[in-house]
Amino acid sequence: MSEPLTIVLAGINGYGRRYLNAILNPPAHANIKLIATVDPFGEKYDRLGELRKKGVLHFNSLQEFYQSHTVDLLVIASPIQLHAEQICLALQHGSNVLCEKPLCCSTEDAARIANMQRRFNRHVTVAFQWSFSGAMQELKADILAGRFGAPKRLRCMALWPRDQVYYQRNDWAGKIRDSIGRAVFDSPVNNACAHCLHNLLHVIGPTVYTSANPLRVEAELFRANPIENYDTAVLRCYTDAGVPLLFVTSHATRNLLGPMFYFEFENAVLHYHEAPHAVIKVTFETGSSLCYGCPTEPDENKLWRTIETIRSNKPSWSSIEAATSHTHAVAMAQQSPRGIISFPKRLIRRIGQTPHETIVVQGLDSALKRCYEAFALPSELGIAWATKPALQSKVRLTSTQSANREIVV
Ligand SMILES: NC(=O)c1ccc[n+]([C@@H]2O[C@H](COP(=O)([O-])OP(=O)(O)OC[C@H]3O[C@@H](n4cnc5c(N)ncnc54)[C@H](O)[C@@H]3O)[C@@H](O)[C@H]2O)c1
Repeated sequence: MSEPLTIVLAGINGYGRRYLNAILNPPAHANIKLIATVDPFGEKYDRLGELRKKGVLHFNSLQEFYQSHTVDLLVIASPIQLHAEQICLALQHGSNVLCEKPLCCSTEDAARIANMQRRFNRHVTVAFQWSFSGAMQELKADILAGRFGAPKRLRCMALWPRDQVYYQRNDWAGKIRDSIGRAVFDSPVNNACAHCLHNLLHVIGPTVYTSANPLRVEAELFRANPIENYDTAVLRCYTDAGVPLLFVTSHATRNLLGPMFYFEFENAVLHYHEAPHAVIKVTFETGSSLCYGCPTEPDENKLWRTIETIRSNKPSWSSIEAATSHTHAVAMAQQSPRGIISFPKRLIRRIGQTPHETIVVQGLDSALKRCYEAFALPSELGIAWATKPALQSKVRLTSTQSANREIVV
């Protein structure tokens, strides 16, 4: 048997727990060895003692780890604002990388990471939830082969209410920048529902490994929660594939809905609605139909597929180049000249008990559904809380600067 593939995991207390569970209970064929975990707040992880007994080392920083060790794969489940720095450090030390979404927060950082990857010639995979799935890869292959004709327009909606525990779990949730000024752009678009926007761009990408590039993004951004950034967004994105995309998302609706998508092609429509055993369905103009299975696979498949990619030296299914389109779109949305509009206080409702209290906006669920159905921005539908005149941005912000303008209605 060949040598086990060695792993270090950065970030163990949030989503990183899922990676730890997978790494500690791998399938027989995986042949992996967890060398170390990295987390400055590692003592909060209740199974650290168990890891120590297994001989897994723990470090407070990745720099400290690389001072004395090398490893085949760095898995990153750390805060968004650390991704660029940690990916570059790993590449410099000869590691491959599986990084949780998003890749990073600026086009400059995305370019820096791509340069480092070329220089050090290692795999970097960005863990967007859907694009690694068998169903989505099969679908994309058929889109590329022209099975449905040319894409006309694509839309996706994900309404995921989030409670106060979510916003209070760390010091960067809902932030535009962290305490030392690094861009975070934390929002449903750059974090919880990032997969959906990435997938819109990825399925119409010119190759299996690339996404369409956003040329222009019209974004209407709103907040209900007491946060710096936005918790609700409707984005219309114009791409170099000549296909407009609509993405509707919120953490402030009363009900959970989606993700769901509806893709219009020349000869067919492709639709999906998340529910138990949900599948992607295609309905052709001729009336015939087709099914592609479920794009939501167990989370740990990202890890096993990345390891296969590294071992077989194939290109990454979710490459830096593919993920950079999402970073561009997020940065463009963040610069929306309309700024971020706070929902009127009279529409804010608090449901549930502390700490699971959730802030919701009355009427938001139906307003966002209308946007999705009409392929429209809220202001275009005359929705009262969205119809304040747009602010004109006098200075063109670079993607590393934030558009932290606020309009209170
Ligand atoms: N794929 C998914 O479904 C999914 C779900 C949730 C989160 N995520 C992603 O996981 C990442 C982390 O999000 P989260 O919600 O778990 O955040 P979190 O703040 O809850 O957890 C982050 C962890 O990283 C640790 N950390 C802080 N600084 C660190 C450093 N310098 N080095 C290493 N670790 C450090 C924290 O102590 C914490 O344990 C984000 O990229 C997020 O988008 C993905």
